[in-house]
Amino acid sequence: MSGTERRGIILAGGSGTRLYPITMGVSKQLLPIYDKPMIYYPLSVLMLTGIRDICIITTPQDQAQFQRTLGDGSQWGLSLTYVEQPSPDGLAQAYLLAEDFLDGAPSAMVLGDNIFFGHGLPEQLRIADEQAQGGTVFGYRVADPERYGVVAFGPDKRVTGIVEKPEVPPSPYAVTGLYFLDGSAPERARKVTPSDRGELEIVTLLESYLADGLLNVRQMGRGYAWLDTGTHASLLDAGNFVRTLSDRQGQQVGCPEEIAFENGWIDRAQLLDRAALFQKTNYGKYLRRLAD
Ligand code: DAU
Repeated sequence: MSGTERRGIILAGGSGTRLYPITMGVSKQLLPIYDKPMIYYPLSVLMLTGIRDICIITTPQDQAQFQRTLGDGSQWGLSLTYVEQPSPDGLAQAYLLAEDFLDGAPSAMVLGDNIFFGHGLPEQLRIADEQAQGGTVFGYRVADPERYGVVAFGPDKRVTGIVEKPEVPPSPYAVTGLYFLDGSAPERARKVTPSDRGELEIVTLLESYLADGLLNVRQMGRGYAWLDTGTHASLLDAGNFVRTLSDRQGQQVGCPEEIAFENGWIDRAQLLDRAALFQKTNYGKYLRRLAD
């Protein structure tokens, strides 16, 4: 990677109305996915990419709870910056809100409700991170593409467009909520005008990269899990998936302490501090074992 180091954004605002009444009193991205808050999982994805400087965008009313849950990030060797999104005006707005934080740097933005799991994930992230110019997004085959941004391919299999929630999906490939974009993202986001539903759409921003021949769409194959948390049932399923996997393997999914320790961002004493804080839980026992 050339130039400034890539910075991270977690977009964790939104109204959460699809999960009412649960989200009337708490932000969706703080809901539990089995044994930890949802935001731990996208945070882990940025950490696996090697990113330590991360901006967390929340609604004004939920910011204090995120700060209480995540603090300043120093427990994981991170620097966390909190920014408010006054109203949910669309995903592309994140780049305007985070413009000062990014200060011209390339970014990786992950939606706070997106959960990824897969053996080759660090490698996928590394490849996307190394692309200094343009953007990289991930296409993932789903049974219900009409619920997402969908990739359209031309006859030569080249990407010709990305359409948000099309009635007739041009392909089964949804664009996941993980966007690696270069330093021009805020400038491009400024040119995005609100869609019919009144949002600054991420797909419009991506199409600006595509029009310049600068968008790379990588496939996330069937060996990866990209879990949905958009409905009550899928939220429960995601929790059960994490439980099944971590019980069977005796390994955590989405454990920031583990990644920080392996990356050398925290030392053993710091890991043991976290283990002590969580000593009444299996999570704490897991951290203790890591330290040993
Ligand atoms: O999950 C991937 C999909 O995410 C993409 O395939 C779509 O292209 C993209 O538009 C988005 O679709 P969703 O239907 O999931 O968008 P939603 O409005 O639910 O917002 C996604 C998350 O971002 C959600 O947790 C709330 C948060 N959000 C959303 C908006 C519109 C914000 O923090 N601020 C916002 O302004």
